[in-house]
Amino acid sequence: MYNYKNYLCFSISELLRKYSKEELQTKFNAFSCQKNKEIELFIKNNSISFSLKHQSVSYIIFDTTVNRVVAYFALSIKPIRFDITTLSNTALKRLERISEVDLIDNTITPSAYLIAQLGKSDDAQIDINDIFYFLDNNIIDIQNACGGVVEFLESENNDKLIALYQNRGFKIFNIRKSKSGEERKLVQMYRLI
Ligand SMILES: CC(C)(COP(=O)(O)OP(=O)(O)OC[C@H]1O[C@@H](n2cnc3c(N)ncnc32)[C@H](O)[C@@H]1OP(=O)(O)O)[C@@H](O)C(=O)NCCC(=O)NCCS
Repeated sequence: MYNYKNYLCFSISELLRKYSKEELQTKFNAFSCQKNKEIELFIKNNSISFSLKHQSVSYIIFDTTVNRVVAYFALSIKPIRFDITTLSNTALKRLERISEVDLIDNTITPSAYLIAQLGKSDDAQIDINDIFYFLDNNIIDIQNACGGVVEFLESENNDKLIALYQNRGFKIFNIRKSKSGEERKLVQMYRLI
């Protein structure tokens, strides 16, 4: 659990020690995210079951002044393939230690932390800096427990959203088509930690 300003952040695993699945589920009912419905649907429909399956773990941020869930992010581990030519020598050196390297395809595939979901509820006061306070601290804990040097995310192809991540040190390394829609593009970004 982390405490910062008027916010508390718990992983779902921690919350399930205190609340039943049903009790926890009711805490997500008021969460709405018009800018990205997937964020709303995930916390309501998948966050608990994915955490129980160890597919990804959601971290829930409560605002103690209004006593409700205002934001969350979900973390997972996933191999991610980079084209070697897109990386600096420094990045390559750090990634090589935790990667499979394919010199025929010229690709490097490290095990990485995936920021699988990240969002706030529509009327919440919290912003990305506060959310990243919790995200960074939890990633450092995981890194201290088992190593790892890189995190990545797949952003909607929206300049403002991309800028939010670039301001926090993320770099674009690829743009891929989403499986769910030919027209939808996801901007893949990484950050060394
Ligand atoms: C990402 C987020 C937590 C940042 O919160 P914040 O620091 O308070 O910043 P804002 O919400 O003001 O967003 C900054 C700008 O990006 C825009 N933006 C954020 N998410 C957007 C999205 N999914 N689609 C389009 N525009 C988006 C905002 O409208 C805002 O634009 P404005 O400056 O013209 O008002 C919040 O915007 C959010 O929850 N977005 C929806 C969920 C989402 O898309 N998550 C990212 C998944 S990759």
